[in-house]
Amino acid sequence: MSRKKIIAGNWKMNMTPSEAVALVNELKPLVANDEVDVVFCVPAIDIIPVVEAVKGSNIQVGAENMYFEEKGAYTGEISPAMLTDAGVKYVVLGHSERREYFAETNETVNKKMLKAFEHGITPIMCCGETLEQREQGVTMDFIRQQVKVGFLGVTADQAKTAVIAYEPIWAIGTGKTATTEQAQEVCKGIRECIAEIYDDATAAAIRIQYGGSVNAATAPELFVQDDIDGGLVGGAALKPDFGKIVNYK
Ligand code: G3P
Repeated sequence: MSRKKIIAGNWKMNMTPSEAVALVNELKPLVANDEVDVVFCVPAIDIIPVVEAVKGSNIQVGAENMYFEEKGAYTGEISPAMLTDAGVKYVVLGHSERREYFAETNETVNKKMLKAFEHGITPIMCCGETLEQREQGVTMDFIRQQVKVGFLGVTADQAKTAVIAYEPIWAIGTGKTATTEQAQEVCKGIRECIAEIYDDATAAAIRIQYGGSVNAATAPELFVQDDIDGGLVGGAALKPDFGKIVNYK
């Protein structure tokens, strides 16, 4: 089955609203490629101006987080309905930075996954091991657990539309990209895990990205691997380089 590549930028806590609009205007012509899905996942305060700025282009907008309740006394949180009303189509869930600094767990990620599907938002669920786990040889056990809990209660039809981002923590923002073989091996393992939870058709449909120091030089080799369906890009998504990553072929 041929899956459409999905190349997403995760802006993290960068770009004020006015900087965000300027960046969109700079990148818009560079990422005009309908052969791949292009998503800008931006800070909450940038969502509304970015949705406005991307109008008429091929860029879709994602959030970097979301809460799992509908509404109420949750100071500082953003609900799924707020996101959809603003024009958001994707949400990054369970990024390792949220797991490390904001106490996100597999269980809270799972609640957010279910809520995202309920509201028609496509989750980009992140998973990935620490360097220590890799050295101990428990990479796949750890990631399988993240995936299994993250997808609890998610139907096969929903899972087919989901995106999983494999981001080895030791490769994030370090300039140390996983080798193509390491990235492909884990993405293949994640697809096998999805086949075990669901079936081969679901595994063949779900899109799995690689993230971790992706740049214009590493993207072409990574993105042509059998089980790598694009990338989740941090630092390089804030630069014209992102245009080269989107046009990796
Ligand atoms: O979500 C993207 C990410 O964590 C990778 O960041 O800066 O290593 O591309 P970076």
